[in-house]
Amino acid sequence: MALITIESSPEALKSGTRPSDAAARDYCRHLELGDILFIPGIPFDIPQDDLNFLLQQEQSGGAFHKNVAYRTNEDRLTGFAGDNAVDADRTRSIMRAYSQSATKLLSMLLAPYTERWKLDYASYRPLEEDGRDLSLHKRNDLLHTDAFPSRPTNGDRILRFFTNINPAVPRKWMTTSPFDALAQQFAGKAGGCALPKPLGGFALDNAVRGIKQTFRSIGIPVTVRSPYDDFMLRFHNFLKENGEFQKNCPKEYWDFPPNSCWMVYTDMTSHAVLSGQYALEQTYIVSKDAMVTPEKAPVRILEKMVGAPLVS
Ligand SMILES: [Fe+2]
Repeated sequence: MALITIESSPEALKSGTRPSDAAARDYCRHLELGDILFIPGIPFDIPQDDLNFLLQQEQSGGAFHKNVAYRTNEDRLTGFAGDNAVDADRTRSIMRAYSQSATKLLSMLLAPYTERWKLDYASYRPLEEDGRDLSLHKRNDLLHTDAFPSRPTNGDRILRFFTNINPAVPRKWMTTSPFDALAQQFAGKAGGCALPKPLGGFALDNAVRGIKQTFRSIGIPVTVRSPYDDFMLRFHNFLKENGEFQKNCPKEYWDFPPNSCWMVYTDMTSHAVLSGQYALEQTYIVSKDAMVTPEKAPVRILEKMVGAPLVS
């Protein structure tokens, strides 16, 4: 796993300098291998007033006592705890602008993916990560690969773009081997995390999935999870529950300085957040068909191990 610094300076990116097609493809390839792409600056404008607003809210014990999510497609905030409508509106417009700026940037840097992603949530993370009191499966300081319990991807990829807006303190991460190596080690009977059942191989599982799909089609909110999504969720939990792995696996440490950005496939790159406060983030669900090295996608790695399709 490596940290790859984007070749163009943040200023050049801000002025619209695009990487060549070959460079953009190479950035995608690095991400798909589990590398982190890093920008030593914020290559778009976030007005200082807006930054001050975000940084001051938590300190004043205001509406930011937990993470705030911005649902890009609905233009709606969740997790905003205050009752001040002006602050809520302002937060929403800052998050909307961040989401749009990040997406414009990624459309240039990762041109092969453009229009082949779905915008997922953006978030603001105002809390100090060090010492947060969270349940085991929600802890950010334990190494894991991401899976969304309520938003299965059916094999598509979870790409996340982060910005550390803390003016003074780095955000500290830890990583270990990427998904392909961890799957070789832990997926299957001997490793401790049972492999997924092939799609279509088990009549009862298919019947349950069929019933859920029918419920969904008539508007009843149930989550239909493919065998792939089911495995990814179990694997996320398995890694966090595995004290021996957490303690003894090889680790690498990364400091993301104040006012820097980075992006990573968090379903491939095992990660933990050790400390840091005040980060913005935008998630993209990138089509598995847009990969430049499709054989490295977790779904293809698992399908190879199982010898059968895991998504429809
Ligand atoms: Fe994560």
